[in-house]
Amino acid sequence: MKQVIAVIRSTHLDQVKDALVNVGIVGMTVSNARGFGRQKGQSQKYRGQTYKVDFLEKIRLEVAVADNQVDLVVQTITDAARTGEIGDGKIFILPVEAAYRIRTGERDDVALSSNVED
Ligand SMILES: Nc1ncnc2c1ncn2[C@@H]1O[C@H](COP(=O)(O)OP(=O)(O)OP(=O)(O)O)[C@@H](O)[C@H]1O
Ligand SMILES: [Mg+2]
Repeated sequence: MKQVIAVIRSTHLDQVKDALVNVGIVGMTVSNARGFGRQKGQSQKYRGQTYKVDFLEKIRLEVAVADNQVDLVVQTITDAARTGEIGDGKIFILPVEAAYRIRTGERDDVALSSNVED
């Protein structure tokens, strides 16, 4: 299992969410985030020497999936979040050691699957 963490533009959250649901993703967590990338959040020069680093408002989206879903999720997020302009965001992939569905005690791939039975 892997955790896919995407930092994306808030303007693109709904279309990223819809695209992921359309490829069968059944759970995700979203939070407001602040961050900067290599432009340092619209860096501004002061007296030609120092510069200020600003945080920009972003959305952090997390999806835990089986290994064989990772490529699809990355491609889906990329397609839905991309404008081609700076600041489109980043995607990180982390290993997940275990996952549990609290209600049933199911774990791992079963805990992440959509097999709704009630
Ligand atoms: N190395 C990083 N670690 C953690 N978060 C990051 C990292 N790089 C970027 N982010 C997060 O992603 C957001 C968007 O980054 P951004 O898309 O500007 O990346 P970039 O590397 O500057 O690429 P681009 O040149 O396309 O702007 C940042 O505001 C920050 O929240
Ligand atoms: Mg940037």
